[in-house]
Amino acid sequence: MTPSLLTSRLILRPPQLGDADALALYLNDFEVSGNLARVPYPYLRSDAVAWLGSQRPRPAAEETSFAIELAGVGYVGHIGYQKVGEVPVIGYWLGKPFWGRGIMTEAAIAAIDWFFEASDASDIYSGVFHFNQPSLAIQKRLGFTETGHSTLLCLARGVELEHIDTKLARSVWKARRQ
Ligand SMILES: CC(C)(COP(=O)(O)OP(=O)(O)OC[C@H]1O[C@@H](n2cnc3c(N)ncnc32)[C@H](O)[C@@H]1OP(=O)(O)O)[C@@H](O)C(=O)NCCC(=O)NCCS
Repeated sequence: MTPSLLTSRLILRPPQLGDADALALYLNDFEVSGNLARVPYPYLRSDAVAWLGSQRPRPAAEETSFAIELAGVGYVGHIGYQKVGEVPVIGYWLGKPFWGRGIMTEAAIAAIDWFFEASDASDIYSGVFHFNQPSLAIQKRLGFTETGHSTLLCLARGVELEHIDTKLARSVWKARRQ
């Protein structure tokens, strides 16, 4: 069951069908989808409804998804885990009107704290397309380190792109949060 996590400005909660309009509005923006692997562009309301319909509560922390709600605004983005092979991978995006206010950093701290409590995994994996320096900077500030490069399909761009792979060790996170 996906819990709800409270931070000073945000609620991280299970995604719901009522998020479809906002989800479609913010993801139908190439500046958002063009930085993500599995989001098509254009992104229609029907894509949002189909994706939300597939988001069932899952028992594993490695497959948990959170809608991000900003106080006084509502749904503004998403952060979640998926299992790729055997490892947990974190992904995230925020609607463009809300960039640059520390919102994703705040959401990520809550989602990572929760994950390391809920799972016994030793690492969280992530990464960015090679041009996404803002997101890489956020990950590095959180304690992620680069582990190498790979290639990954970007659906919105319809091409395979160079991807910088990263990882956050539980030990690094614990040391930072003390
Ligand atoms: C990447 C993304 C999630 C960043 O979200 P964000 O909420 O703007 O990120 P943050 O605000 O936490 O951090 C960005 C900047 O705000 C600054 N910031 C942090 N706390 C802040 C606060 N309380 N008030 C104002 N600014 C703050 C950070 O220092 C950072 O600045 P810098 O990078 O210029 O040094 C967002 O741009 C996005 O969704 N992009 C498209 C999709 C994407 O790239 N997803 C990630 C794929 S790997």
